[in-house]
Amino acid sequence: MAVGVFDSGLGGLTVLDAVTKRLPEVPFVYFGDNAHAPYGVRDADDVYNLTTAAVERLWDAGCDLVILACNTASAAALRRMQESWIPKDKRVLGVFVPLIEALTERQWGDNSPPREVAVKHVALFATPATVASRAFQRELAFRAVGVDVEAQPCGGLVDAIEDGDEILAEALVRSHVEALLRRMPKPEAAILGCTHYPLMQDAFQKALGPDVAVYSQANLVASSLDDYLKRHPDMMGAGTESCFLTTGDPEHVSSKATQFLRRPISFRAA
Ligand code: DGL
Repeated sequence: MAVGVFDSGLGGLTVLDAVTKRLPEVPFVYFGDNAHAPYGVRDADDVYNLTTAAVERLWDAGCDLVILACNTASAAALRRMQESWIPKDKRVLGVFVPLIEALTERQWGDNSPPREVAVKHVALFATPATVASRAFQRELAFRAVGVDVEAQPCGGLVDAIEDGDEILAEALVRSHVEALLRRMPKPEAAILGCTHYPLMQDAFQKALGPDVAVYSQANLVASSLDDYLKRHPDMMGAGTESCFLTTGDPEHVSSKATQFLRRPISFRAA
């Protein structure tokens, strides 16, 4: 009964951590496509091809349900996968919708027409590919009216996080936040629309100031998965073992992951 969690690299570990805490009895198989990270500078076809290859590997590992713990893949590939690629007995879920439901104060499955919500000015920080897809604005427009979104593509930030270069990552957060605040001086909420960014959440909050509510996805995705599995217990796959797979160098990736999550994590070759 394993569930798959996919990211281009280490960012999805922020989601894995939250789902493991919320659902300790569920085995999770994590797949990091570290050999091909970052995805955020790739075109949509490239992201689609890499994401479908990774999801197939997770199906082979006994996961009928896979979470794309990657906004770039959710934004650039998920809709195309759902339209024509995913077989009837499998499911692939993205990380956008739980976040937008939280922002727009909606329960799961509330398909009522878009309405006014409390927040009016939202800052979105994401990879260049996610920003270019406008998937966030599209999903938001289905649920809310009158929300102004200013998006900042955070070039270089995923590389700095993957490399463990905290000084560079902090400097990039400051400069991306400054660039956004020049265009939207007073956002009420900020979305960390990349699963790598919660690793820099304190730096974002500091640069944005205490009055901005910073939303990140890990806990929202965990409660949404919990809810989903209660409604679809049949979607637990045949796998029984939790494990970490990578297309990168397992030793190197394990040491970075251990540093990020501050607990021993051992990857093996995918
Ligand atoms: N962590 C991913 C995301 O949520 C991917 C970042 C990347 O590979 O550029 O967008």
